[in-house]
Amino acid sequence: MRPTKPTTSLDVRTIEDHGRIPADLDTAILLTLAACYPEHRDMFARTRHWRGHVAAYRVIALDGGVVAAHVAVVDCTIRVGEASVRVAGVGQVAALPPYRKTGLIDGLLARAVDEAKDRGFDVGMLFCQERVRRVYERNGWIDITDRPCTRTEAGERILMPPDHLRMMVPLAMAELPPGSIDLAGDKW
Ligand SMILES: CC(C)(COP(=O)(O)OP(=O)(O)OC[C@H]1O[C@@H](n2cnc3c(N)ncnc32)[C@H](O)[C@@H]1OP(=O)(O)O)[C@@H](O)C(=O)NCCC(=O)NCCS
Repeated sequence: MRPTKPTTSLDVRTIEDHGRIPADLDTAILLTLAACYPEHRDMFARTRHWRGHVAAYRVIALDGGVVAAHVAVVDCTIRVGEASVRVAGVGQVAALPPYRKTGLIDGLLARAVDEAKDRGFDVGMLFCQERVRRVYERNGWIDITDRPCTRTEAGERILMPPDHLRMMVPLAMAELPPGSIDLAGDKW
């Protein structure tokens, strides 16, 4: 059984990013992202801007100077069928191992979604692998992988494979407009 840490006394904050956060916080975030995404350690040694996407805001849980858990939200406008949809793009969802299975990440996801609602986003959207689907389903996210979804990387349009799940949560829009999804850029 993995040891877990008490999370009730953690300092949960929403911080504005837009490319400007204090250097010590940047370092703490990068350490947590590198630990939770070892396959992307090199990138997180350089930048928190995943695939060049600058987050609008981040929700973090601080345990002293350590970022125990983290969620980033990118402000993106995508196309769905004929409609333009302003999406709160959720990513970099991470909890350090001692803080997993505590519900901490659920609290951060809920706060990120509430904030997105307050900021007037149409829907929340994220991408994940099958192995973490349950994390999002238990938090009210809906699988929309049956919608074809195209992203653009280095000018090339790429149809996202079906094992790369797409999930959404309704905000100002109760549901997605009909049609295929075009990210009008790369995934976040
Ligand atoms: C995703 C995360 C925040 C969830 O935290 P949590 O809900 O507190 O607790 P867990 O770590 O137990 O995750 C829940 C489930 O996802 C699975 N999971 C999460 N990350 C995983 C990974 N990188 N590889 C394999 N399985 C993973 C867990 O095995 C667990 O499965 P179970 O419900 O069958 O036991 C945390 O696991 C994490 O930081 N993972 C690494 C980063 C990551 O993969 N983020 C998601 C990107 S979409």
